[in-house]
Amino acid sequence: MSKTNKNFLVHKTELNNTKISESETPEIQDGEVLFKIDKYAMTTNNITYAVVGHKIGYWQFFPTEEPYGIVPVWGYADVIESKHEGVTVGERFYGYFPMGNFLKIQVGKCSPFGITDGSAHRADLAPIYNNYSNTKADISYNQEMEDYAPIIRPLFTTSFLNYQFLKTGKFFEAEQIIITSASSKTAMGLAFMLKKNQEEDGKKIVGLTSPRNVEFVKNTGYYDEVITYDDLEKNLNQKDSTVVDMAGNSKLLFRINDHLGEKLKFSSLIGLTDWTSEKEFKTLPRSKFFFAPAFAQQLFKEWGVEKANKEIAVAGAEFTQEASQWMDLVYLNDFESLSKLYHEMLQGKVDPSKGNIVKI
Ligand SMILES: NC(=O)c1ccc[n+]([C@@H]2O[C@H](COP(=O)([O-])OP(=O)(O)OC[C@H]3O[C@@H](n4cnc5c(N)ncnc54)[C@H](OP(=O)(O)O)[C@@H]3O)[C@@H](O)[C@H]2O)c1
Repeated sequence: MSKTNKNFLVHKTELNNTKISESETPEIQDGEVLFKIDKYAMTTNNITYAVVGHKIGYWQFFPTEEPYGIVPVWGYADVIESKHEGVTVGERFYGYFPMGNFLKIQVGKCSPFGITDGSAHRADLAPIYNNYSNTKADISYNQEMEDYAPIIRPLFTTSFLNYQFLKTGKFFEAEQIIITSASSKTAMGLAFMLKKNQEEDGKKIVGLTSPRNVEFVKNTGYYDEVITYDDLEKNLNQKDSTVVDMAGNSKLLFRINDHLGEKLKFSSLIGLTDWTSEKEFKTLPRSKFFFAPAFAQQLFKEWGVEKANKEIAVAGAEFTQEASQWMDLVYLNDFESLSKLYHEMLQGKVDPSKGNIVKI
């Protein structure tokens, strides 16, 4: 085993400034385990973690040399050393990792289903991020589809939760749901849920996207209508609507608001894919930020952990099967390729038909 632990670092306030660090593999103490990180996904969601790193606390997960930070990623890792009686070398976990080779954690809760990192620096962060699921007992784990999961699972969980949020709120009396950044995987997961339940809910599904992604979005079949941002005043129906926003561009949201007026019933603000755009949301009427981990805690309390996990796993497996039809996996095997991908994504050069898996 290589003794060097490489990490991809991003300057916390100058996101274009990145470097690769090298250090010794961490040594573990009593109660700790050492993971060898096997593979993880990179999507625009990870860029958003960097954009709101200070505001939401994403830089706190994996502290490194200031003024740099490590962007968290979802993936798999194997335990290669353990000084905790409940964790065995060779066990494989799904969870939240740094863009690096190794992670040491202080085991908090421990059960056959998984473990948590109980380290002090992670104590104030949303519990969903501190949980590592043991693949042996994880109902969402499917070895055959393993490489799709780090891409789809965290995003689809948000899509599923947002769908439940909308449904609980009776879709805010809307006849149609308009989703921005319609080609993003989080948007498509939500459109999939709306389509799947369309007979019961009766909501029209409208996707707003950029011209280069129109064909791709149409071909997925999840949307009843696909409109480009430029054409929204010309083509967007003036029906009672709820917007689910992945883009985070306040100018776009005000254009939709001006076009629909009182017919815009609610805007659920989820994402910031268009991260360099104007962000003046305060005066946007009837709008609220949707933070998936917070809603997850509420839903898990209402439904119980078992039911919630099962429903997410079943719908997620169906969406993953479908995603394998419209998404090709791309593998990155060194830090230089990872760096190139990060910088491309930062500039918005994202091909929605590709799913990036880093395996270094
Ligand atoms: N609030 C929460 O709890 C939560 C949870 C999960 C995800 N999210 C957010 O949901 C968003 C979508 O994430 P994802 O990983 O699903 O995305 P993704 O699949 O990587 O999305 C790619 C699409 O996003 C748009 N895009 C990407 N970069 C852009 C840029 N620089 N400028 C303008 N548009 C850009 C483009 O869509 P179009 O061409 O269609 O516009 C692109 O095809 C992220 O902002 C993520 O953080 C939020």
